[in-house]
Amino acid sequence: MKRLDQILANGGVNAELELVIKDILVACKDINYKLRQGDLAGILGSTEDENIQGETQKMLDVISNDLLKDTLVTNPYVRGVGSEEEDYTIAANSDGKYLVTFDPLDGSSNIDVNLSVGTIFSILEAQNNQPGNNQEVFLQNGRKQVVAGYVLYGPSALLVLTTGSGVNLFTLDTNIGEFILTKQAIQIPVDTAEFAINMSNQRFWEPEMKQYIDDCLKGETGPLGKRYNMRWVASMVAEVHRILIRGGVFMYPYDNRDPSKAGKLRLMYEGNPMSMIVEQAGGASSTGRMDIMDVTPKGIHDRVPVILGSKNEVEKIVGYHKK
Ligand code: AHG
Ligand code: MN
Ligand code: MN
Repeated sequence: MKRLDQILANGGVNAELELVIKDILVACKDINYKLRQGDLAGILGSTEDENIQGETQKMLDVISNDLLKDTLVTNPYVRGVGSEEEDYTIAANSDGKYLVTFDPLDGSSNIDVNLSVGTIFSILEAQNNQPGNNQEVFLQNGRKQVVAGYVLYGPSALLVLTTGSGVNLFTLDTNIGEFILTKQAIQIPVDTAEFAINMSNQRFWEPEMKQYIDDCLKGETGPLGKRYNMRWVASMVAEVHRILIRGGVFMYPYDNRDPSKAGKLRLMYEGNPMSMIVEQAGGASSTGRMDIMDVTPKGIHDRVPVILGSKNEVEKIVGYHKK
């Protein structure tokens, strides 16, 4: 039985970075506890507030954000934090080397119906001495991430983590409050016949994406020669986790509902960390036209089209975009 700290120590993660990861997980364990309490803890429902992206904040969006933020800003090794639920990046310790971005609660439309949600996080190293409340210090591409991970609050609470040398899966043992290694060096199957996309947006997609999905729906007699299955959980963490375990592709592509937005999902705390995990597990991730982790962010809340999962299928979809 291997605990997370043993894996981190053996994986060459320095003590400072280890303490940052552990603080993130202290908050995640608390989020998990509150989720399990559900309505008993009065945490369901919405607030009357909107975040800077115009989304109504759920009670648990705010609670999760506060738990992560309050823990991380007091960590001596954290320079600053950036969150989906914070308008601007927040300064922590000016001597800190690490920058943490997070989606405190992903899939929050699932909270009130008791379905899977998650927390996504990404850690970068500050490349200069700017303070953490200057978002410029965060604006590095995804290849610079030193850690990416998520916690999936499902039937069990799981941590999926990469520090740049493969992907490990840990299961929270709630009796001892520790994440225990339950799967090592996860590899995503390279081929798949399962896709995940919100089909209700079909009329807004670009022709390339419409064509790919049309071809999937034609099944074994169509140009792709396979009978496809479809899933949509409306929680990126849950979708990525399914793909990690049994393969598949997840897409939230560009659509023209609001042409000023490059996509729905956010680059720095959704697209990038999930791309690092997927690539570290032998999968691929793309906007359709370039690797997600090569996109240079201009702002902490930048959006990005996302196509990720089983390598051969992602390459097929990228091929449609080249036609
Ligand atoms: P969040 O709850 O953090 O705003 O993210 C929700 C995201 C993502 O997890 C999911 O894949 C997608 O939004 C669902 O979008 P639709 O409601 O458009 O299906
Ligand atoms: Mn999200
Ligand atoms: Mn969220």
